[in-house]
Order: sequence, then C-alpha cells, then structure tokens
Amino acid sequence: MTETAHFGSQQVPLGDKQALVDNVFRSVARRYDLMNDLMSFGLHRAWKDALITALDPPKNRPFDLIDIAGGTGDVALRAIEAGSEQTRVTVCDINADMLAVGRERAAVHRLGDAVTFAEANAEALPFADRSFDAATVAFGIRNVARIEAGLAEAFRVLRIGGKFLCLEFSTVDVPGLDRLYDLYSFNVIPALGSAVAGDAESYRYLVESIRRFPGPQAFAGMMSAAGFSRVTYRLMTGGIVALHCGWRL
Ligand SMILES: C[S@@+](CC[C@H](N)C(=O)[O-])C[C@H]1O[C@@H](n2cnc3c(N)ncnc32)[C@H](O)[C@@H]1O
Repeated sequence: MTETAHFGSQQVPLGDKQALVDNVFRSVARRYDLMNDLMSFGLHRAWKDALITALDPPKNRPFDLIDIAGGTGDVALRAIEAGSEQTRVTVCDINADMLAVGRERAAVHRLGDAVTFAEANAEALPFADRSFDAATVAFGIRNVARIEAGLAEAFRVLRIGGKFLCLEFSTVDVPGLDRLYDLYSFNVIPALGSAVAGDAESYRYLVESIRRFPGPQAFAGMMSAAGFSRVTYRLMTGGIVALHCGWRL
C-alpha cells in the first residue's frame, strides 16, 4: 500500500508531498515576509524574538547554528544580531526561491560570511554528525513530509550539549479565541493571500497544514523519540504557537 501524507486537508502519496509544498513556497517567496507581517499582525516577530531569547547565542565565543527550513533567513538575521561576531548561521531550505530572497536580505544587511545558505532537504542534511551548537526550525517542520526524519537529522547534526528549538503553530486552547482564530484563518488569510501574493490556494494550504500538525504533547513525544532530552514546550498567544525545546545530551 502507498504511504500517504497530509497536504493541507488532502491525503496525498508521501512521495508527492514535497513537490506540492515546494510549489507553495515558490509561489509565495517574494511576498513571504510581507505576508507574515500582515497575517500575524506582526506577531511573528514577537514569536521569533522568544525563539532567539531561548536560543541565547553566546556573546563572547564562536557559535554555530543551523536554521532548518530557514526560508528567507529571518531567524538567521535575528540570531546574528543577538550573538557575538563569531556567530555563524547556516540557513538550509529545500526551496531555491526562498533562499534567493534570503541571500538578498543578507547582502543588504552586509552579513558577509556570518550566514551561508544551503539548498537541502531537512530529511537529509548535507552536514557531518555533530557539526552545530544549536539547531532551530521556525514554522518549517510541519511542511516536512517525514517529520520523524527531519527530527532525526536535527539531532544528528547537533553537538553533544546542543540545543534544538522548534517554533510551530499549535492548538489554540482558549475558549472563544479558537472560533475567532478559525474564522480568521479560513476566511481572511486566503483572501489576504489572494490580494497580496496573488495566491489564495497556497495560503489555504498553510492554514490547513497548521490544523493537521500534531498537538504540542504529541510533538514533544516525537522529539523524545528522536533522541532529544529534557524536552519542554511553552504555548504562546493562547496556544496559536508553541516553542519546543530539547537537548542532545
Ligand atoms: C513557513 S516557511 C518558514 C520560513 C522561516 N523559517 C521563517 O520562519 O520565516 C517554511 C519553509 O520550509 C521550507 N521547507 C519545506 N519543506 C522542507 C524540507 N523538506 N526541507 C527543508 N526546508 C523545507 C519551505 O521551503 C519554506 O521556506
């Protein structure tokens, strides 16, 4: 029997999911950052700030971070700003169009060799075991077809003592807010996607993929199964987003 995966609300052959996801991000790459601000009323900035606070890049020594599914380099830029001059970030993403926007942003910010961009699948990272002090994924893991493989790779490339942080949309747990959030997500976001990025369908996928993603307890369990220790998470903004943390010990 063919293995399947969720692509938004659809059930598709597992092998087809990545190409469908790639089409979404190819289509939205140029408007991706603007859309993030519009869709989240700028809240994605606060969520990413929380990720960087938890990452706590050292101020006085080298620090190698891999930002998996790093897209347009938003997390990388923030980590470099928060860390020392010896902070190095590798942004890895499967989508060349998202990375192209990231390279342009890095050039505008004159980041030089503080950041490098690698076109790679989170399920098969082209880096040696134990190469990085920390690994982050922001709003990326739900797009990976084989999430377990992505988590196993994040674990593999971390040094012993390394931290893994995963920011992802989660399950709204505040009565009233859940209905409002559904109304907004299924009606306003696709309309915004159509008006701003000329693509309602991609944003419908993004909303539906959020609903399909495992709840925070279940995802914490997947992190533990991948080998991470001291797995914790905290919900933000009424559960709209969860910040997961685990260590390679
Ligand atoms: C919602 S964007 C998040 C981008 C960025 N981390 C941020 O927070 O702004 C999801 C990203 O995951 C990437 N992605 C999807 N599947 C991937 C995979 N298998 N390996 C690596 N990146 C992937 C997409 O190309 C896209 O850039």
